[in-house]
Amino acid sequence: MSASAAIATTDKTLDIESIRAQFPILKTKIHGKPLIYFDNAATTQKPRSVIDAVRRYYESENANIHRGVHTLSQEATAAYEEVRKKIARFIHAADEREIIFTRGTTESINLVAASYGSKFKPGDEIILSAVEHHSNIVPWQLLAERTGAKIRVIPMNDRGELAMEEFPRLLSDRTRIVAVAHLSNSLGTINPVRKIIELAHARGAVVLIDGAQWIAHGPLDVVQLDADFYAFSGHKIYGPTGIGVLYGKAALLDAMPPYQGGGDMINSVTFEKTTYAALPHKFEAGTPNIAGGIGLGAAIDFVAGIGLENIAAHETQLLQHASRLLSEIPGVRIIGTAREKAGVISFVVDDPPMAALDVGLRLDAEGIAVRTGHHCCQPVMDRLKIPATARASFAVYNTKEEVDLLASALRRIVSAEVARAPQQPAPATSPFASPDAAANEMIETFEFLEDWEQRYELLTDLGEKLPPMPEALKTEANRVHGCQSIVYLHAAKRPGTADTIDFLAYSNAIIVRGLVALLLRVYSGQSAKAILAFDDRAFIEKLGLDKNTTMFRRTGLDGMVKRIRAEAARLAG
Ligand SMILES: Cc1ncc(COP(=O)(O)O)c(C=O)c1O
Repeated sequence: MSASAAIATTDKTLDIESIRAQFPILKTKIHGKPLIYFDNAATTQKPRSVIDAVRRYYESENANIHRGVHTLSQEATAAYEEVRKKIARFIHAADEREIIFTRGTTESINLVAASYGSKFKPGDEIILSAVEHHSNIVPWQLLAERTGAKIRVIPMNDRGELAMEEFPRLLSDRTRIVAVAHLSNSLGTINPVRKIIELAHARGAVVLIDGAQWIAHGPLDVVQLDADFYAFSGHKIYGPTGIGVLYGKAALLDAMPPYQGGGDMINSVTFEKTTYAALPHKFEAGTPNIAGGIGLGAAIDFVAGIGLENIAAHETQLLQHASRLLSEIPGVRIIGTAREKAGVISFVVDDPPMAALDVGLRLDAEGIAVRTGHHCCQPVMDRLKIPATARASFAVYNTKEEVDLLASALRRIVSAEVARAPQQPAPATSPFASPDAAANEMIETFEFLEDWEQRYELLTDLGEKLPPMPEALKTEANRVHGCQSIVYLHAAKRPGTADTIDFLAYSNAIIVRGLVALLLRVYSGQSAKAILAFDDRAFIEKLGLDKNTTMFRRTGLDGMVKRIRAEAARLAG
């Protein structure tokens, strides 16, 4: 039975089964189970029509655009420019010249910050909101550093709604731009963007809307909204990666300096003076992602064929169903309970406390793909005093039955955690004569285990036996940053020794505790000299952890090794 057949649908308005049949990847099995893909806020899967459009382009239509008189170039140019028109119609822009192709939302925002922001003066103000993605924070911080402008932030309440009563007080005659997300990727909050635009315009400020998430979840009319700039990415709306859009009002774009220089954005070039092309080409230097554009056109056709209102209605049902089921699981807490929400449900397991990373890995073992971490929204996590959430985000091909499976898997995961017997901690000190001896034993054990599932099990086992770290040592100074979970590491020279170092460490994620335990087995109780002489790169490579890059990077293993070496160097004197 195919995965899509196994997941029957109950939706009345859309024929979800025939929609699912258009997505080849949905037939994939993960760990032998049908894939349930709930990581749509990170990127959506692609329908056959998009995959075919990109393939067809490379197979029979490929040529550079805007510069050849030969037939293929003219046809490629016409196809690419047709997509621009299609996007203008799709978002109801007044003029196709207002559609600038970019690499995605991030580049669209950077373009506005670099170009529109180039005239900002010291003391000018940029207003952001508390729910922003890093993509809508960092470009403005870079601009503020360059120009002396100041950033002000619309706060949010515990539900994840913007404190709109604060907004008028933040606006001033110095406000140059307000940049806010239409739909929050971490909490699912729909922000009151129409109101924000109205109030900002009344104070003479322009508004950029980060539509990375909204674009696939609800209809958009940029003229009715009166947005000055609107940014989105193709890959979040069933299109390819590496292509996105900046919508901007023509009068604003016309007055802005170019963002990047190069071919295709000029009118004439001499060594003395260059004049620039008219919109939209002024902002499109160099050969663009032509295939991506063609694919995005097919994606827009796909979405328009179903209707964003229908997609929104279907996803609202999924969200309501998920909210009900998840809120009924003891120990699970939904993060983000705004009255206006779409597409996204974030949650944490409080009782027993489980790291989002562990929840994500266990759901993955069931074939369920959710995102874990801070979702590029660290200020949101800090505001809510949580390190991370697990997040399920929906697309048109998801079904109520998939949500049922998520809820039942989560229920099982939480129950298993409740039932987990406490383990006797292992001794804190490595029983080995040298880091190499410990490493060799670990490498042999890893080699003996057949697959990553067994290795994860071993790591989990090691993590459960990690000696406890006293609460008093869980300080900011001992915190190892750069990890998806919370990690502390403490080092102390053993009294009466020249440079023997004992380490204690903790992580709230079992899998990371396992990695920490593995490291302490190698390093703890060894001399600083031996620690510094140990070839950690070769060790990690031999374990195969460098190949499992998610494991390596996202867990901060790299950062932990660096910290251990830094502590050894410090204590060695
Ligand atoms: C709200 C929001 N803004 C911006 C981005 C950045 O999008 P991209 O990585 O496609 O540029 C994302 C991606 O997750 C997002 O969710």
